Amino acid sequence: MIIGSIRLKNFRNHSDTDLEFGERANVILGNNGEGKTNLLEAISYICLTKSFYASSDSVIVKIGEDKFEIDAIVISDLGSNYRIHISYDLTNSEKNYSLNGKKLETFSSIIGKFPIVFLSPEKAGITFGGPAERRKFLDLVISQSDLVYFSELSEYRKVLRHRNKILSEIKNSRSDYYTILEPWNVQLINYGSKLMIKRAAFIDEFKNYILSTYKNLSDVNECPEIQYTASFSFDGEAVYEKITEKFRNELIKKFDDEIRFGTTLVGPHRDEVSLKINKMDLRKYASQGQHKTFLVALKLAEYFYLKERCQESPILLLDDVFSELDDSRVQHMLRIIETLNQTFITSTNFEIFDKVLEFGKSNRKYIVSSGNVKES
Ligand SMILES: Nc1ncnc2c1ncn2[C@@H]1O[C@H](COP(=O)(O)OP(=O)(O)OP(=O)(O)O)[C@@H](O)[C@H]1O
Ligand SMILES: [Mg+2]
Repeated sequence: MIIGSIRLKNFRNHSDTDLEFGERANVILGNNGEGKTNLLEAISYICLTKSFYASSDSVIVKIGEDKFEIDAIVISDLGSNYRIHISYDLTNSEKNYSLNGKKLETFSSIIGKFPIVFLSPEKAGITFGGPAERRKFLDLVISQSDLVYFSELSEYRKVLRHRNKILSEIKNSRSDYYTILEPWNVQLINYGSKLMIKRAAFIDEFKNYILSTYKNLSDVNECPEIQYTASFSFDGEAVYEKITEKFRNELIKKFDDEIRFGTTLVGPHRDEVSLKINKMDLRKYASQGQHKTFLVALKLAEYFYLKERCQESPILLLDDVFSELDDSRVQHMLRIIETLNQTFITSTNFEIFDKVLEFGKSNRKYIVSSGNVKES
């Protein structure tokens, strides 16, 4: 798929931005604070029906205005056009997303339809941060390629919330809630085991993608590794019956602790995905540049993974990603970008692209200044 055009009204600092995009690299240049990231935020909003970093839609509406709107044309790989209209009204908090004139009943029905891979400075948490950041990464990749996973994940989260509520009530009242807890145990084990099986299978495939993208980014011989460590060990045997049995045993073992802490201590919400470079834990030993290279490799791997599994080729959004990379890695990365479908790349560095990319009909360049965007 490609985003053919976009029009933003009162979206962040874009009062009225109307653009057509090229089929390949769309390079968006501008100084700090001019509105580059805001433009990517709008593009990702189309694909994910929400902002990638604002927690609330209300902060997206241009200050002093009541409503933001996004209109876009998305062109599928087979050439059909999707007309998208999104609006959010601050006065009544009403949000609408319509596809070809038809209002969506559930926003989540879009997930995976317009696959997107997004890399921004905030994503550094995937390699620098705690396990929750890596689980989030895992969940978004698998969800976009597997709608069943997405709905199992939503169910699991619901069950977990309920179960935690009951556990904290037991903790506070000290009464016997075991019979109330049991039905939630059954569901926790069911959905949790399904997620774990899919996560294990995903990492197993995904590691090969990372090996290949990392190699293409770096000239030096560095070996990246990704490993799935579930909240309890199941000896590599990712079979539903086996996992559910272990899950139950683990819940029994941890029951007293769960009551004491008032929260669920077993399950995929406590999984870890560890990242290593040359057998060393990335978080403890890697340099800034190695972190960044790993992150870019992960995101490119995500791109190729989704490209093979989704009905549409994904779009790639790279927000200000070149800063910590040395010249050779930047050049490698731009050469890889040249081989991809549509990409959106922001930067404050006006020069680095001209050495590698040729601008014209397929690759395009835009300059952003105070929320105004001009093709250059
Ligand atoms: N709701 C809003 N209404 C009006 N302006 C906003 C709103 N939200 C953010 N802004 C403005 O948008 C600008 C930031 O835009 P953006 O994050 O896209 O900048 P950028 O070009 O990516 O900069 P950098 O290179 O520093 O990342 C800031 O000037 C900020 O004040
Ligand atoms: Mg920015």
